Amino acid sequence: MTRTIATAPVVEHPRITVIGTGYLGATHAVCMTALGFDVLGVDVDAAKVAALSAGTVPFFEPGLPEKLREALDSGRLRFTTDFDEAARFGDVHFVCVGTPQAPGSNAADLRFVEAAFAELAARIDRRALLVGKSTVPIGTAARIADEVRTLSPAGDDLELAWNPEFLREGFAVEDTLHPDRLVFGVTSDWAEAQLRAAFRPILDRDTPLVVADLATAELVKVAANSFLATKISYINAMAEVCEATGADVTVLATALGYDDRIGARFLKPGLGFGGGCLPKDIRAFTHRAAELGVGQAVAFLEEVDAINIRRRIRTVDLVRELAGGSLAGVRVAALGAAFKPNSDDVRDAPALDVARMLYLEGASVTVYDPEATQNAHRVYPDLDFASSLGQAVASAEVVALLTEWDEFRSADPTTLGELVARRRIVDGRHALDADRYRAAGWEYRALGLPSGARQPQALPGG
Ligand code: UDX
Repeated sequence: MTRTIATAPVVEHPRITVIGTGYLGATHAVCMTALGFDVLGVDVDAAKVAALSAGTVPFFEPGLPEKLREALDSGRLRFTTDFDEAARFGDVHFVCVGTPQAPGSNAADLRFVEAAFAELAARIDRRALLVGKSTVPIGTAARIADEVRTLSPAGDDLELAWNPEFLREGFAVEDTLHPDRLVFGVTSDWAEAQLRAAFRPILDRDTPLVVADLATAELVKVAANSFLATKISYINAMAEVCEATGADVTVLATALGYDDRIGARFLKPGLGFGGGCLPKDIRAFTHRAAELGVGQAVAFLEEVDAINIRRRIRTVDLVRELAGGSLAGVRVAALGAAFKPNSDDVRDAPALDVARMLYLEGASVTVYDPEATQNAHRVYPDLDFASSLGQAVASAEVVALLTEWDEFRSADPTTLGELVARRRIVDGRHALDADRYRAAGWEYRALGLPSGARQPQALPGG
């Protein structure tokens, strides 16, 4: 069924393609199928396409494997490497490829985005809507909108919109099916109407929709991630102050969080943020703002990044302090490699970075992560990896909790204590019950806590 908006027909039940089947794209393809659409997932990686077609999700994401199988069983989801097929199939094409940090620069690497739009546009010969979901520097969408019109046999009938995505790894399905809000960056009534049709089931549930121009839509995403990163670094900066004064950052965070204007979420102190989004997004934003002549407006993000990196260094300091001043030859159990629990993603993972720094200082490091070991091993083959928590802590002289998996939170300090050589633990995520550990004979240290602090500095002349 179609209706006409601004002289162009809107497809009310559009056929959807999703280009790029990583975390974002695979989840989007599966969820659009669950919402009732016919979907074609497209990727240049034949192995990924084969895995997804066979019902296997090539990364760890709770709930997604079940949803993928349901979607495949419905007969409305397929995957392909064939861009010709994608161009023929889709009324609305979502581009979900990655925009990693460019090698040797803070800028975003747009090669995959450029290639995906160009490959599609050159093949599309009828009215269709291209929708960018990838996180890109402000101004990219407007430039690509011009490029695709020039490249496509459809000319002006090929429009471009931007629809930023806010999904969190570990909650990808929930965040996609039940988003806090939808943001449409559009340049025509037709594009807005076509996007509304593609998100009808979500909009029908009264999900807030913000319709914006292309630049604002691009900015919403980086502004949101910058805010979240700033909030985390804010409390971690307070942890630094706590360490110098004997104050307790966990009590401070609790007290601040009760203020509705501040809120407790993303105010959890510890080892800081990592992953495939927050770190590279704030760097790319800083880079782009400087290009636009407004570098000063977001210069604070450099400090946000610096605070975040200092937490990793300070965690290594705590392990060294517990080990008696030197890490040389010290057996350390590093619990966690993923950038957060319920993920196997080790991109810019604080945990893995700390493990690497400990190793470089001469510690004998054994890493254990319930899901991320394979990915971590690929990045740092020199580290030792254990296949269980018990194996990791066996004979350890210091245990460092670096990612707050439930398996670590719920471990019994007495049982663990029987396995280690010395009961000494650094809780990099404030994930453990300090009193229980102390009662079981552990020396417990954490960032921003009095017992983890350097002695308060004596006042000059005091
Ligand atoms: C983030 C955004 O939340 C999401 O909206 C966006 O689409 C992609 O980037 P994600 O990378 O999956 O999602 O992780 P998130 O849950 O935001 O956590 C990011 C990092 O911050 C993790 O390393 C986490 O451990 C850390 N974090 C989070 C803290 O250190 N303290 C907190 O209070 C919250």
